[in-house]
Amino acid sequence: MRTRITLLLLAALLGAAASARAQSASQPETRPRSNGLALTPPMGWSSWNQFGDDINEAIVTGTIDAMVANGMRDVGYVFVNLDDGWQRYKGSRKAHPLEYDPVKFPRGIAYLAEYAHARGMKLGIYSGPGETTCAGYTGSIGNEVRDAAMFASWGIDHLKYDSCCSHKNAPPPVVQKIFRDMSNALLAQKRGVVLHACHCGWANIWEWAPALGVNHWRIGQDISDDFNYPGNREGYYFDVLDMLDRGVGLEKYSAPGHWNDYDMLIVGLNGKSGELVGTGASNIEYRTHFSLWAMVDSPLLVGADVRHLDAYSLETLTNKEIIALNQDKAGSIARRAVDNGELQIFVKELADGAVAVLLLNRGAATANMSFSPRRDFAMPIDRYSVRDLWAHRDLGVHDGVFTAEVQSHEARVFLIRR
Ligand code: GAL
Repeated sequence: MRTRITLLLLAALLGAAASARAQSASQPETRPRSNGLALTPPMGWSSWNQFGDDINEAIVTGTIDAMVANGMRDVGYVFVNLDDGWQRYKGSRKAHPLEYDPVKFPRGIAYLAEYAHARGMKLGIYSGPGETTCAGYTGSIGNEVRDAAMFASWGIDHLKYDSCCSHKNAPPPVVQKIFRDMSNALLAQKRGVVLHACHCGWANIWEWAPALGVNHWRIGQDISDDFNYPGNREGYYFDVLDMLDRGVGLEKYSAPGHWNDYDMLIVGLNGKSGELVGTGASNIEYRTHFSLWAMVDSPLLVGADVRHLDAYSLETLTNKEIIALNQDKAGSIARRAVDNGELQIFVKELADGAVAVLLLNRGAATANMSFSPRRDFAMPIDRYSVRDLWAHRDLGVHDGVFTAEVQSHEARVFLIRR
């Protein structure tokens, strides 16, 4: 009798385990998978926005040297990421191996990784889950394990893995597989490699990318060098405000280790990019763009030629007080607390209890903008100190409502403390 009961119990337990397995096979894993990296949004430089695929060893070493000399490295920009165009061959992976271009990179990629590491920086590289990449170079499809091992052996620290807007209408498991295959291959390496899944903001990638171990994912198509271009340039590009609006509702998917990516920065391009479309933005607009990307916890990947940055752009990109908002360890993305169309207020709560407040004027005329933490942010704060993070000035202690003048397309950023 006792044996029968034991057997029945065992059968019941086995049945429960089998059904749990069946369930987990049919329901995709949703818990974030951590590689322990990108606990704050990655900061660095990427070659694409300025150079397109016209890159080479001298540009990369010159960029690293410039970032050391101009202070960018020391405020946190440590990644130097090669985008598309480092590869030797154009055409299908079936027809060509994946190798670096020996004319553009005579000493190879491992040399550049060593060059970066010796200066306290990191090197990133680019590939994609297709036969070819977006610019037509050989991709990684079917060779994920081999390529991940090659990248790791070179000393790579970051991979941008770009579907090039392919698989737009593929069923979710198919899209997920192309990124999972590379994520698994990287995780099997001894080297920690930050993974960026670039999928044009399609297939609700933010819902499943964290579970695949992706560290950041683009929320939209490419940015153009514009603050507010009417419509989408060429029906494809997003300007700064388009990209900002694209992120509304996606705030909850961003968290330490897994970030919404609003695309690379256009600060300093000044309408002179060799690659990106767009006519450029004003100094104030670029500063606004930078403040917004910081507040929404986007990776801060500079796209301009940092070897020749103008003084205003460098000052914008190296504002430590703004960078601190982006790198705050709480990783709580700014929410749009007030939205009057042209006048919007963003609020970001920081780990130490301070609150960052960004006043954005999207309109054409200067405006006075006001906030009260209690009325507008539902925060029990009546008396608070205010610091202006662009003027680097304390503005004293205030009760209730605080008012500031905000120019057209300007963002003023304040830190308030109880
Ligand atoms: C696009 C991507 C760009 C750049 C380019 C390279 O798909 O959005 O950021 O990486 O490919 O060909």
